[in-house]
Amino acid sequence: MRGTQSINHLGHLTIGGVDTTWLAQSFGTPLYVYDVALMKQNVNLMKQAFEEFPVQWQIAYASKAFSSVAMYQLVDQLGLALDVVSGGELYTAIQAGLDPKHIHFHGNNKSEQELSFALDQGIGTIIVDNDFELDMLSELTVARQQSVDVLFRITPGVEAHTHEYITTGQEDSKFGFNVNDQTIENAVRLAQSHSLMNLKGLHWHIGSQIFESMGFVTAIKNMFGHIKAWRDRLGFTPEILNVGGGFGIQYTKEDDPIPLDTHIREIVQQIQQASEQLKMPVPEVWVEPGRALVGEAGTTLYTAGAKKHVPGIRTYLSVDGGMTDNLRPALYQSKYEAMNASKADIKADQTVSLAGKCCESGDMLIWDACLPETLPGDLIAVFCTGAYGYSMANNYNRLPRPAVVFVENGDAQLVVRRETYADLVRHDLDYTLSLSGVGNKS
Ligand SMILES: Cc1ncc(COP(=O)(O)O)c(C=O)c1O
Repeated sequence: MRGTQSINHLGHLTIGGVDTTWLAQSFGTPLYVYDVALMKQNVNLMKQAFEEFPVQWQIAYASKAFSSVAMYQLVDQLGLALDVVSGGELYTAIQAGLDPKHIHFHGNNKSEQELSFALDQGIGTIIVDNDFELDMLSELTVARQQSVDVLFRITPGVEAHTHEYITTGQEDSKFGFNVNDQTIENAVRLAQSHSLMNLKGLHWHIGSQIFESMGFVTAIKNMFGHIKAWRDRLGFTPEILNVGGGFGIQYTKEDDPIPLDTHIREIVQQIQQASEQLKMPVPEVWVEPGRALVGEAGTTLYTAGAKKHVPGIRTYLSVDGGMTDNLRPALYQSKYEAMNASKADIKADQTVSLAGKCCESGDMLIWDACLPETLPGDLIAVFCTGAYGYSMANNYNRLPRPAVVFVENGDAQLVVRRETYADLVRHDLDYTLSLSGVGNKS
């Protein structure tokens, strides 16, 4: 059980003090349910760890993990900054009423229109990813006579995943300036001589679902080697170091990530120590967690439907959602755990494989889940779906995207409406080519 999850006297799973069977009846299924108290707890854990150090810091929520107006408003209330990676995420943040100064704009292929939109809004920071973008931004700032703060995204030569990290030297990645490449030095020189682009510092992101801090620490050590060289050669000292996100969470019992506050302490200590060695002021430390703030706080509720027993092989139990609301199992073979939320007090002693309802054999949510005897109509809760669930949701097979509710202290609030069939055809237009005869437009 995570966060505020509990089992009530009816044997139903509750989240945020709300009975999940009531949520399903009131809002329908599939349904994403977010435990607001758990999101707040995650944020506080990180904040308290930062507060132990005499450093300037910032937590920016990586909103690709779950983006919606209400989520952005919660992030703002909690005093976090926001990381967006597209004009659409930025637009959502503006609609949510966020101060653009608290927003960072990421992305490896920002369009001129997106950069202009960001400048129109008075964006806080642009994380410049490559020299193509740098030139475009340079021209835009000059044409508009508008200044902007920038960080340069670097591929730091370290790639981390779960317990493993690899030092790759020249990293093969579509993101960022290569750390060993001349283009980064040229970019620093350009920014230094530019009157409107304020180069504030550097950004890197070494991966996702990272369980240990060794990868973060190694990246910092590597980067300080380069920071020394750039200081000596170019006179550039970063005021801000943004070490990205990627802090791992516990999807299943097999996952054992270190706590969020431990990550923060190890990152800050390493940056302090490396700065002291170079006798440079300790830069502001920025982090960009997505999954770690919202992943475990999200649960998806499904209604059980068809059951198929393949003798001697397995039992399939289909639910009313699947790869349309949770793409991760099909995309990355990600593992999840589930519970029969309407029989949460009954011993789970049967093995069934939870299938989605899409026309793909690969649309399996969980292979070999452990549930009690489950009948059609029972409520299934799949845990830990708060990150990259709704944000990767899609309309494959023309399934409407589910609703999202926030729960806290016994209250539930709908924060994203369920799509309707009418929504599915909202942007479709009639076929009319045949009415105008055989056209020759060449
Ligand atoms: C630049 C950057 N920052 C932050 C994140 C958030 O990662 P996570 O959700 O694993 O914390 C990502 C994820 O892809 C990213 O690319």
